[in-house]
Amino acid sequence: MKRGGQAKPSRGTTSLEKSAYIRGQEKKAAEYDAALGRIDACVRALHALDPPELPPEWMMNVIGSYSPEHFKNTAGWTFSELVRRGRLTGSSRIIDIGSGCGRMALPFSFMIEDGEYYGTDVFREGVEWCSENISARNPAFEFHLQEVEKNYYFQDSAGVGNKMGLSFASDKSIDFIFAISVFTHLIEYDAVQYLREIARTLDKSGLAYLTTFLIDDFFFDYVKRTGKHTGVQLVSDGHYQAYSGQDFFAGFTMDRWLKILHDAGLEVIGFDPGSWADKPGSLHFQDVFLVAVK
Ligand SMILES: C[S@@+](CC[C@H](N)C(=O)[O-])C[C@H]1O[C@@H](n2cnc3c(N)ncnc32)[C@H](O)[C@@H]1O
Repeated sequence: MKRGGQAKPSRGTTSLEKSAYIRGQEKKAAEYDAALGRIDACVRALHALDPPELPPEWMMNVIGSYSPEHFKNTAGWTFSELVRRGRLTGSSRIIDIGSGCGRMALPFSFMIEDGEYYGTDVFREGVEWCSENISARNPAFEFHLQEVEKNYYFQDSAGVGNKMGLSFASDKSIDFIFAISVFTHLIEYDAVQYLREIARTLDKSGLAYLTTFLIDDFFFDYVKRTGKHTGVQLVSDGHYQAYSGQDFFAGFTMDRWLKILHDAGLEVIGFDPGSWADKPGSLHFQDVFLVAVK
């Protein structure tokens, strides 16, 4: 081809205009590249954070991270997964249930511009740290304490229900709700209230991403093979519990999940198995439900 000239079809081929399908693919690829670039930039900004821009290590321990490196790595990986699964942009309206000390809010704070981000947790110091360090920098971020009577994440007192709510968000106003490693710490009574609130606040086209310990044959086989989690006990129909405090374990069978989701006005549109019980095909540690309003 001459410099600056048109590409000519070679002998025996036909000259074709790009079809609408190919042009559509090109447009989508460009949008996806831009979105990926945004994810990478946010993850780079996250990794550049140093104390005091990061929560203190004792707070990281409270939410299950054993070092700043682990905190940043898990934050970056999960943030990237959430943005892709939710097709999130700077204008997205998001709720982070169990926002802890901002492991997810930190990378999102580099992305959300004219959107809204609400975090909520029973961890008072975590909520305060997020308000003072993230909301102060990005006004799209609000953090709300869940006032609970039985704070069994911090006390050995599971078994009594609390009043859980997302009253800071109005009906159908949210695009994406996620709860990372939170339903694994909730008794059914509390979980059900969050599910009803998710159904109330999620927009018709919105999505919820909820991680869980799904009790299934893979789990029972895992217990038999490894001798781990033998203390996990059935406490009510399809609802299993073990341990206490920060280690409190709550798991549900698929039938139970489908029932409580259905009763709350939600439906499952996707499921990923978790590696926590050596389940085949897993990409994440916990099982994941993708949920939408019925
Ligand atoms: C394993 S940590 C995960 C924290 C956060 N989602 C993350 O990935 O960094 C579990 C979190 O759930 C919070 N939590 C426990 N019970 C809760 C409840 N009823 N409502 C909201 N958050 C709760 C804990 O305080 C803690 O921050």
